[in-house]
Amino acid sequence: MADPKKLFIKTYGCQMNVYDSERMAEALGASGYVTTDRADEADMILLNTCHIREKAAEKVYSELGRFKPLKAANPDLKIGVAGCVAQAEGEEIMRRQPMVDLVVGPQTYHRLPAMEAAVRAGQRAVDTDFPAEDKFEHLPKAPRAKRAPAAFLTVQEGCDKFCAFCVVPYTRGAEVSRPVDRVLREARDLVDRGVREITLLGQNVNAYHGAGDGGTWGLARLIRELAKIDGLERIRFTTSHPNDMEEDLIAAHGDEPKLMPYLHLPVQSGSDKILKAMARKHTAESYIRLIERLRAARPDLLLSGDFIVGFPGETDQDFEDTMTLVRTVSYGQAYSFKYSARPGTPAAEKTPVPDDVASDRLQRLQGLLTEQQRAAQEAMVGRDVSVLFEKPGRLPGQMVGKSDYLHAVHVTDPRAEVGQIARVRIKASGPNSLAGELV
Ligand code: 5AD
Ligand code: SF4
Repeated sequence: MADPKKLFIKTYGCQMNVYDSERMAEALGASGYVTTDRADEADMILLNTCHIREKAAEKVYSELGRFKPLKAANPDLKIGVAGCVAQAEGEEIMRRQPMVDLVVGPQTYHRLPAMEAAVRAGQRAVDTDFPAEDKFEHLPKAPRAKRAPAAFLTVQEGCDKFCAFCVVPYTRGAEVSRPVDRVLREARDLVDRGVREITLLGQNVNAYHGAGDGGTWGLARLIRELAKIDGLERIRFTTSHPNDMEEDLIAAHGDEPKLMPYLHLPVQSGSDKILKAMARKHTAESYIRLIERLRAARPDLLLSGDFIVGFPGETDQDFEDTMTLVRTVSYGQAYSFKYSARPGTPAAEKTPVPDDVASDRLQRLQGLLTEQQRAAQEAMVGRDVSVLFEKPGRLPGQMVGKSDYLHAVHVTDPRAEVGQIARVRIKASGPNSLAGELV
């Protein structure tokens, strides 16, 4: 048998892209590829791109430039661009970069094997359709290899919310939920292969409305069904819109022990004026009430969020309102970004806030969020938490895992094993992780 061809995938952006990269690797596995982490020995390089914020396309072009010598050294090397930049600018990429052989959008990677064959035959291939068929059902079956203990599972994709700043509705398309039985089948398969924690993914995952027994299931019902799977110990989901936080999902945080006490619930801004301009369709107050209900269900819930500063029209007072909201809610973890105009979105038409003003605000907000993150981490010291060990650490005998609150935890103990969930007493808090001992 011929040596397998080697595939190098570089992934940008969100966890859904991480999941998609795995699926693309499996799809090309059927065409005889194995993955490599070395671009210089690859027969095919795929960039799985992200279009959410600034300079997405420029980054892709400069990355492609770095592969030029590899292509010169190996004319058989094929180069592809996948993901959301491919979706938004596929034709343009093909025009500007003759060394790109293949462009595939997020909704068509099940067609990769055929595209790969075309490319091997010397053609260039572009596919940025939004096809009617379910790509997950049309993917070649993966070899049933053992998996790492924590896995992602896409249950919902696309978004119908059309927040004024966001490209997702354009690059990922309309909101689609996978049917319940397919999600359950994939989850059971993951568990059979060693997975103990599943993070359900969707651009707007709590809007999940999959076809199931007796009608349409919401995310809470799906989670409760998944929780019945023996061997699956932990469930998470990301990312959510406040307006889709249904009653039963709030309740599940209190009464479903496998649902972990960590929630990513972006609010973007604390100013009602800006929230309105962003077309978020909620207020700062309604968000804070929602957080209160969640914390009533699960008092130790660790909250995470996303923030945008410098959205067009944001005044100093609007920004102070964001700072006030952050102080009110108190986040254990958060991501904050300077607004970046995305071509084709409604907000891109508006006058931007001066860059130095936006930078100052970002710095102040990040300062506050970092402080809160540190405080939340330090509050763990002395506590016993459950940790799922995911991989050996850098030091000899060290294991790295995640606590139920999603903190990275280091333990040095020969008894700690990958895939094990153990009680760990937290002893120290570092910049980005905790250290502890087996109880
Ligand atoms: N500019 C800055 N940040 C953005 N995000 C989405 N679009 C933009 C944009 N145009 C941020 C939001 C979102 C996260 C995934 O990325 O905070 O929740
Ligand atoms: Fe983008 Fe999220 Fe708004 Fe959808 S809900 S448009 S993915 S920010």
